[in-house]
Amino acid sequence: MAQTETSSRGNWNSKVGFILAAAGSAVGLGNIWRFPTEVASNGGGAFLLIYLICCFAIGFPVMVAELSIGRKTDRNPVGAFKALSSNKFYPLIGFWGVLCGVMILSFYTVVAGWTFSYVFEEIFFFMGLESWANYFAEVSNGVKNGIFSTIFMGATVSIILGGVSDGIERATKFLMPVLIGILIIMIGYVSFQPGAGTGFAEYLKPDFSQISAPLIFSAMGQAFFSLSLGMGALITYGSYLSKKENIPEAAAYVTLADVGIAFLAGLLIMPAMYMAESFGVSIFSESGELLASTDLIFQVLPALFHSLSTTAGMIFGVSFFLLLSMAALTSTISLLEVPTSYVIDEYNVKRKKAAMMIGGGILIISLIISFDISLIGTIDFIFSTVGLPLGGFLICYFLGYVWTVENALEELEHGYPALDSSIFKAVWPIFIKFLAPLAILYNLLEAIGLVSYIEQLF
Ligand code: TRP
Repeated sequence: MAQTETSSRGNWNSKVGFILAAAGSAVGLGNIWRFPTEVASNGGGAFLLIYLICCFAIGFPVMVAELSIGRKTDRNPVGAFKALSSNKFYPLIGFWGVLCGVMILSFYTVVAGWTFSYVFEEIFFFMGLESWANYFAEVSNGVKNGIFSTIFMGATVSIILGGVSDGIERATKFLMPVLIGILIIMIGYVSFQPGAGTGFAEYLKPDFSQISAPLIFSAMGQAFFSLSLGMGALITYGSYLSKKENIPEAAAYVTLADVGIAFLAGLLIMPAMYMAESFGVSIFSESGELLASTDLIFQVLPALFHSLSTTAGMIFGVSFFLLLSMAALTSTISLLEVPTSYVIDEYNVKRKKAAMMIGGGILIISLIISFDISLIGTIDFIFSTVGLPLGGFLICYFLGYVWTVENALEELEHGYPALDSSIFKAVWPIFIKFLAPLAILYNLLEAIGLVSYIEQLF
């Protein structure tokens, strides 16, 4: 389907192209690195359950909200809020988003750098040039981290330079199916290994007694992170979207693809964790506590690949880390696109200059993180776990009470002629005005201890 509408900002080439790009933004390290780590350190199945609820009850409605704001205004997140209201306060929501994007990208490139370096580690290992012993220690090698982060940022900037549509659409089209294929084959292999049952049970049987305020808070943060929500990435992507597209339908596809891939990653990594011992990796302490840290998958997955025959291990190990690097790249692109489009639109800077300046600036933070990887956890907590739901709350509030759902529904009707008689129209406003913002607000207040403080007063 050719793009008939013309817009100076560039547009997606086709409907599938947009879904692929948004899914490319969603699917990344969040699904395969962050999600399994969160599951493993937050009570397995209980976390999975709350995560799924957050994705569908909060994530999906917010995704529709972001896309509709973006398409309506044809702007970056800061400009979008300026366009819809004359109140000077609201563009701050966009600024907060830009800041979260910058900070998330700064550590994301470091983890993406590890992923890419593992392509080579795997090759060297199977060629017998690298021993397993000093393999993982490399993760805290600052110089090496710096080099790989720089490579990754360079790749991201060079794609952003070409504009939004071509590179991302093409890369994602083949990437996603192959990644799913590898995950499924590896899950098949893992299920026949001794000990798999424990991992599957831990993952799929929710232990309701594990559900706690911190668990819910982490699950909500994970839902926002994984779906690329709360910082205006999808306002920006929505601004490249044509009026012919059905936004709720596209958002549904993106949500399902993202949740599906995260679910598969859990099915692979949870059992693999429990058999890691037999592969020679210890991830549990003496007392049986999980030594979960940000780098869990960088130990468990290679151990799994190394338990295969040399040829199979080489094929799966190398292609897995290569594909994951590419999945990370389609995500870093969306993270960098937000500040870049902001500077292009609002300060009239050329795309090339904007991308290089911002990419370069963020790289400086990445280099600092490269030498002190303990910063990752802190920055991730502030700007992902807290920052993104906060942004999501403000977006719900803005759409529901400032721009109003009536205006949003009018925008959504383009490309969705049957909207008027749909269940979506009946339900979405309730989620955007009440359920999603209240759930987020409650959890944020709970996290800073305000809820228990208020309870004590009575
Ligand atoms: N969703 C991506 C992942 O799961 C990360 C990401 C890309 C992101 N763009 C974003 C997270 C925007 C929050 C906001 O890896």
